[in-house]
Amino acid sequence: MGARNKIKIFSGTSNPEIAKKISACLGSKLGKLTISRFPDNETYCRFEEEIKGEHIFIIQPTCNPANENLMELLVISDAAKRSGARTITAVLPYYGYARQDRQSKPGEPITAALVAKLLKASGVNSVIVMDLHSKAVEGALKMKKIHLHALPVIVKYFRRKKLKDLCVVAPDRGALRNARKQARLLKAGVAWIDKRRLAASKVLVQKIVGNVKEKNCVIIDDIISTASTICEVSRFLKNAGAKNIYVAATHGVFAGQAIKKLSRASIKEVVVTDTIPQQNTKKRLKKLKVLSVAELFARAIERIA
Ligand code: R5P
Repeated sequence: MGARNKIKIFSGTSNPEIAKKISACLGSKLGKLTISRFPDNETYCRFEEEIKGEHIFIIQPTCNPANENLMELLVISDAAKRSGARTITAVLPYYGYARQDRQSKPGEPITAALVAKLLKASGVNSVIVMDLHSKAVEGALKMKKIHLHALPVIVKYFRRKKLKDLCVVAPDRGALRNARKQARLLKAGVAWIDKRRLAASKVLVQKIVGNVKEKNCVIIDDIISTASTICEVSRFLKNAGAKNIYVAATHGVFAGQAIKKLSRASIKEVVVTDTIPQQNTKKRLKKLKVLSVAELFARAIERIA
């Protein structure tokens, strides 16, 4: 691959751990980029090496604090463009603001689309993303893109456990199609939950469709944010006679009281990936297992360059 030696990978400050892992998978080192703050807290950055004519990859999930991390990404991209980078690829293991992907009430924004426009305006030519919240977000990214999925990594992990009487539980009806696919891969049964979201951090489970009695239940979702969905579903599963409950999600956002709720919930293990840094969460949530998706991003970078 001729362009390979032209790849230059830089990391923002939101998840340097995954950035290091990705560049290690590619057998390269992270490029030199200074990022700091002005006295008034505005973001400053400077490329400390020549990037003119190069293919630049900026690794920066826009996780919490999303405003800070997004702005930092835009500032880095602008600097890359002004320094003559040949192409700029934003590598967003987690794409923040994705869940506002439509107007559910008049007067609301569509932030998923706004972020896509901002990326383009800052000079980004292509993106590499993982498990976007919806097709609408993917559609909003009107540029070259690679949309990765963490499912192979999650499935591999659960296969290794060799759990008996496995049942994949879809956390809502919309997730049933994915759950069927997950169940096929895990050679498991399927059940699904009929739930309603009452507020941002309140979910009401109405019924379970399928048999979960004495089963090892696995719930695989795209995101755990307030953990309301997962905890409420788990409570319901336990009452319905489930043996053990495992939950997995690509993105561990863990907002608000999520860690406390998950610690208390009758969940045996919480599995997430490293799209968002979890070093601190690991200390506070003993049942947390973090799987790395760095290899998938490294292979995608090779494909796009
Ligand atoms: C719903 O559409 C998503 O797949 C997740 O189930 C949801 O966003 C998780 O949010 P929370 O953890 O706040 O319940």
